[in-house]
Amino acid sequence: MTAPIPISLEVNGERVDAQVLPRINLADFLREQLKLTGTHVGCEHGVCGACTVRVNDDIVRSCLMLAVQVHGASVQTIEGLSDSGEVADLQAAFRDRNALQCGYCTPGMLMAAQDLLRREPAPDRERIREHLSGNYCRCTGYHAIIDAVETTARTRTGRRA
Ligand code: FES
Ligand code: FES
Repeated sequence: MTAPIPISLEVNGERVDAQVLPRINLADFLREQLKLTGTHVGCEHGVCGACTVRVNDDIVRSCLMLAVQVHGASVQTIEGLSDSGEVADLQAAFRDRNALQCGYCTPGMLMAAQDLLRREPAPDRERIREHLSGNYCRCTGYHAIIDAVETTARTRTGRRA
């Protein structure tokens, strides 16, 4: 039997020390060991984007990363971004624009959208579509999601629609 490996990291600003099996992926570690179930698991093949989290300064698909790979890293999940208020306006825009229905894709969408808006404060609709193209939504038809991200970008930069 494979022995667990000790890892230390920061998750949503708090230090975490854990023992993980070498094969457990980051999504399962967050959900099962840390009970951070806001990170969703859809395809488990790096396709749908439901499992998107931030590692250091980049978003990653946590189903494709092993928990041992985040030893020493800083991980932010949707719970962290939500609790800090970092995406409060984006969440409000999603609500206002009906950009979520079942909500399964929403944490990953918010993580990916916030990643874009941090890097490019004023993206056009095409750029938003491109950046979110790796995040699948089976409910909304995407238009409302693009609207919500565009509205947030405009509000943050003080531009008018
Ligand atoms: Fe990770 Fe789909 S569950 S990309
Ligand atoms: Fe249901 Fe996007 S709101 S998958």
